[in-house]
Amino acid sequence: MNQKKVGSYQKRHLMLTRLEKIMKKSHIDKFNFVYGLSDNYYGQELRPEFTDFFNGKDCRNMMALDVGCGEGRYAIFLASLGATVVAIDGSTVGIEKLSEKAQKKGLKIKAVDVDVADFIFSENIYDIVVAATILDHLPQEHLADTASKIKMALKPDGILYVNVFTVSDPGYEIQQRQGNLPSNDVSDTAECMEHYFQSGELKSLFKDFDILYDYEGLEADLTHGTPHHHGWACLLARKPNPL
Ligand SMILES: C[S@@+](CC[C@H](N)C(=O)[O-])C[C@H]1O[C@@H](n2cnc3c(N)ncnc32)[C@H](O)[C@@H]1O
Repeated sequence: MNQKKVGSYQKRHLMLTRLEKIMKKSHIDKFNFVYGLSDNYYGQELRPEFTDFFNGKDCRNMMALDVGCGEGRYAIFLASLGATVVAIDGSTVGIEKLSEKAQKKGLKIKAVDVDVADFIFSENIYDIVVAATILDHLPQEHLADTASKIKMALKPDGILYVNVFTVSDPGYEIQQRQGNLPSNDVSDTAECMEHYFQSGELKSLFKDFDILYDYEGLEADLTHGTPHHHGWACLLARKPNPL
């Protein structure tokens, strides 16, 4: 390839990287803003399949990782069951709030303010990994990579809980029309969505795991902003031993 062409590709790559950084920053700014509005912006309630699975479990001696923990509702629940939790998020406000709550409640939570792409996932160390509405917030090129790192970070027989929003979410149609049609049926943080999952896509991303539970559906959300709906895909899965 001639030098001129290489130069123009490099320039384009640099411009895209800069654009990505600006978009990422504005998404994180939005989360910093909403987390400043109330004690628990998304409420304290967790998905029922998650609590049904973990309620009453003794998680002492377990290590958990909460990826994109936000204000930490999943991390707090697991730590309350005895787990030692590492909780990561790019929102400084979310992480500060979680650290304070953990300290007050005496919970073993290490809350880390970091971009998922920069976090070092150690191999085979977590008994539980939670990724609640984070994979859909990652640009496509980080999504598959983060899913692979999550798989690698779980111990064999470790439990994964992951959920994302799907193309049945009203936000998807708005994104397709590039925001032209205002709708009051859409989450106020929908602008931070990068990728709405197709039906079956989440399950297929973790097809090498043993699926314990999976669900897709459209549900009302009354926890924040104006009442709206979300298209959910939720998955509970076990890492096979050996993978
Ligand atoms: C919809 S919230 C979910 C929060 C939490 N999991 C929950 O269910 O309450 C998405 C979270 O992902 C975080 N996030 C988005 N992109 C991120 C990135 N690249 N690195 C780290 N965190 C990110 C946001 O700051 C936000 O807290």
